[in-house]
Amino acid sequence: MALLADIARAAWRAAVPAPVRARVSDARERIADLFDYALMRSSPADASRPARIRPHTLYIEGTNVCNARCVFCAYPRMERAKATMPMEAFASVVDQYLALGHAEVDLTPIVGDPFADRRLFERLDFLASRPAVRGFHFFTNAILMKPELIERLTGYDGRFTIFCSFGGFDRATYRRIMGVDKFEEAVAAIRGLIDAKARKGSAISIQVNLRVPKGSESGEFWDYLLEKKSEGLITVDAVDDFDNWGGDISEPTLRQAGLVPKPPPVHRGPCRRLLTGPTVLADGRVNACCCRDVEATLIIGDVNAQPLSEILSGAPIRGLLERHARGDYPKACRNCTRYESIYPAWMHGWVWRLLELLTRPFHG
Ligand SMILES: C[S@@+](CC[C@H](N)C(=O)[O-])C[C@H]1O[C@@H](n2cnc3c(N)ncnc32)[C@H](O)[C@@H]1O
Ligand code: SF4
Ligand code: SF4
Repeated sequence: MALLADIARAAWRAAVPAPVRARVSDARERIADLFDYALMRSSPADASRPARIRPHTLYIEGTNVCNARCVFCAYPRMERAKATMPMEAFASVVDQYLALGHAEVDLTPIVGDPFADRRLFERLDFLASRPAVRGFHFFTNAILMKPELIERLTGYDGRFTIFCSFGGFDRATYRRIMGVDKFEEAVAAIRGLIDAKARKGSAISIQVNLRVPKGSESGEFWDYLLEKKSEGLITVDAVDDFDNWGGDISEPTLRQAGLVPKPPPVHRGPCRRLLTGPTVLADGRVNACCCRDVEATLIIGDVNAQPLSEILSGAPIRGLLERHARGDYPKACRNCTRYESIYPAWMHGWVWRLLELLTRPFHG
């Protein structure tokens, strides 16, 4: 059966172009999220078979310590205690997640850098050793990615992806955006990683994620990235507009750094990230959102005290969904420009209001 599924997946990949596959997979995930949400809000369906959120990826914050101070990030003001997750808790939560039938694990923290995590390679080895893990990945500023670490990183298989966040194509811009004078180190590390992938024929994927003022892409390193992209060694992505961390990062702060602020979205129903983005914090608590809740105020459980399955179906996550559905958004969500409605764009008019109204009698 597993062999048949592998053959079908390979045929699908060979026959359908990547952009179409990405759209299909996004549409499939969105429909699944809506379906999960409908089940969780319907008392009769929930009573017959208790529903839970089914995140496509489990986010795990190995550490919330960072070595940079990006102008667009809330990390420099974080008041949450700094911590590193013990390996036992990590292994236990990953295995629980896999046992629930899921397969993607991301080591990107809400804030913090994976290379500031002294257990990073133990975690990567653990994930690589689990055949049920289909993909594992993290974002990093790459500053601490030294040559000996690059050798180990490029030894993992094709399930592993590194996303390198990069803040400027000259020393002054990099320092203004990333808050640290580490332009040379970041360039050397990202170059080293790409060159090692080429030299070793490594199967890992690398994406360079630009966090630079629009139009400032130029110079030797930019030319190098374009060349490596054309050789198929990397992909390059960029943020066009920057979000506000629930209001912590102001528009003038972003503009002064030459960055474009993201316009505030209209909030319509629950944020989709409550279904897709629970993150296990370094201290074992689980936050409902992996994105922009720097102080972790959306806590829905604790893996040191409860099984993961209970956390994903418990009263706290249901309470948050209910609050969002009522339009009573918690402080972290109220002004968050990262908010993404669970309802697709075509439902944003009267359709979602009608649906909420029609399903109200079934709500718990
Ligand atoms: C919070 S960081 C954590 C991982 C790692 N420290 C890093 O910077 O890659 C995850 C990603 O969020 C991005 N990010 C942080 N604040 C942002 C903002 N206000 N708008 C857009 N992206 C942001 C970072 O550039 C990074 O790519
Ligand atoms: S964006 Fe990443 S690298 Fe920059 S301060 Fe935040 S956590 Fe650190
Ligand atoms: S509104 Fe923002 S903070 Fe709240 S769940 Fe969505 S992305 Fe996370």
